[in-house]
Amino acid sequence: MSTPVRIALLGSTGSIGRQALQVAERFPDRIRVAALAANANDTLLVEQALAFGVPAVALADEAAASRARRALPDAVEVGTGGAAVVGLAERPDIDVVLNALVGAAGLRASVAALTAGRRLALANKESLVVGGDLVMRHATSGRLLPVDSEHSAIFQCLEGEPREAVSRIWLTASGGPFWGRSRSSMSGVTVEEALAHPRWTMGPKITIDSATLMNKGLEAIEAHFLFDVGYDEITVVIHPQSCVHSMVEFADGSVKAHLGATDMRIPIQYALSYPERWGAPLPPVDFRTLGSLEFDAPDTDAFPCLELAIAAGRVGGTMPAAMNAANEIAVGAFLDGAAAFLDIPRVVEHVMTRHDPVPLESVEHVEAVDEWARSAARAAL
Ligand SMILES: NC(=O)c1ccc[n+]([C@@H]2O[C@H](COP(=O)([O-])OP(=O)(O)OC[C@H]3O[C@@H](n4cnc5c(N)ncnc54)[C@H](OP(=O)(O)O)[C@@H]3O)[C@@H](O)[C@H]2O)c1
Repeated sequence: MSTPVRIALLGSTGSIGRQALQVAERFPDRIRVAALAANANDTLLVEQALAFGVPAVALADEAAASRARRALPDAVEVGTGGAAVVGLAERPDIDVVLNALVGAAGLRASVAALTAGRRLALANKESLVVGGDLVMRHATSGRLLPVDSEHSAIFQCLEGEPREAVSRIWLTASGGPFWGRSRSSMSGVTVEEALAHPRWTMGPKITIDSATLMNKGLEAIEAHFLFDVGYDEITVVIHPQSCVHSMVEFADGSVKAHLGATDMRIPIQYALSYPERWGAPLPPVDFRTLGSLEFDAPDTDAFPCLELAIAAGRVGGTMPAAMNAANEIAVGAFLDGAAAFLDIPRVVEHVMTRHDPVPLESVEHVEAVDEWARSAARAAL
C-alpha cells in the first residue's frame, strides 16, 4: 500500500469541507488530514481536529481562533487570521491542498499552494474567476485537480485526448429552483425559495449563484482557464436531472459524457485519489430506473447573470474580479434580506459598466479591484 496523501483542508466546516472529511473517514489508510482551516466556526473545527488528530489548524476570525486554542491540546498549532489560513497551504508536511473556501478570499491560498509545489484540489472556483491568469501560471501538469463536478467530468473526458481535437465543451446546468420562470415572476422570491435547490445541497453562496445561473457563468470562466478553451468553445446546456455532469465534443463529432450520481463526494474523492480510483461512497446509477434525461437552452433574459459573467470572462483582465466582487456583495445582501433577488444581476451589471478593465498584474492588484467593486456594489444597493 502506498503512503497516505497528507491534505490541508481549507474551509473544513463548509459543505465541501464536511464532505471531504467523510471521504477521509472512509480511507484512513490513504488520506491523512494534516491541517484544517475555517473562518469563524471554531466549535465544528475543534470537533474535526480532535476526531482526525489534526496537528495544525487556523481560523481567520481572531476570537474564534482564541477559543480554539483553549479547546485544543497544546500540541495542536492554532493559527489566527487570513495569513495563517494561507500559511497552511505552504506547510512542508502537506501533499494536497483542498481549497474549499468560498469567494475571492480563496485566491491567495490557491496561488500559495501551487507556488509551494503542492497539488491543488480546487473547489474554490472564484480563485480562477478573479485570478485565473495568476493561478494557471503556477499550475504545471497534473498539479491542479478540479473538484467542481462539471470540471471533474470534463477533466476525465479529456484524459488521453489531444487538445487540438476538442471542438466544444458542453457545460451542464441543473437550472436551479426557478428554471422555467420569467424574470418578472422572480421579483419577489424569498431567500428560502432561492435556497431550495432541486438537486444539490450546498453552501448558501453557491446555492444562490445556482438560482441566478451566475454559478454557470463562473464555471464557464473556470473551464476557460482549466482547459485552455475559448468562450466560443463553451456551451451551457440546461439538464435538470444533473446526471450528465458535462460533455466534451471532439473534431470527429464524437461526444464523451461523464455521468454519475449527484454527490460531491465522488469528485472530491477523485481529486484526492487521482490517478487512482477508489471505492464509491454510494451505489452506482441504475440506468434501468433513471427515466428520461432532458436538455434545453438557457433562458438568458430570465437569468442575465449567466451572460454577464461570460461577458466579463471575454473581456478578461480585471473585469471578472470586479464582476465577482459585485456578485458576492449582492448575494450577501440578498441572503441578509437587504436586497431583492433581481437586485443581484442589476448590481453586477452596474459595477461592470463602471469598471475600466486592465490586465491583471498580481494578487494585490486583484484585491484592490475587488475592494473597489465591493464598495461600488454597496453604493448601488
Ligand atoms: N457545496 C458544493 O456542493 C460545491 C460544489 C461545487 C463547488 N463548490 C465551491 O466550493 C467552495 C466552497 O463552497 P461551500 O458550498 O462548501 O461553501 P460553504 O458551505 O459556505 O463553506 C465555506 C467554508 O469556507 C470557510 N471560509 C469562508 N471564508 C473564509 C475566510 N475568509 N477564511 C477562512 N475560511 C473561510 C467557512 O468557514 P466558517 O464555517 O467558519 O464560516 C467554511 O468552512 C465555493 O467556491 C463553491 O463555489 C461547492
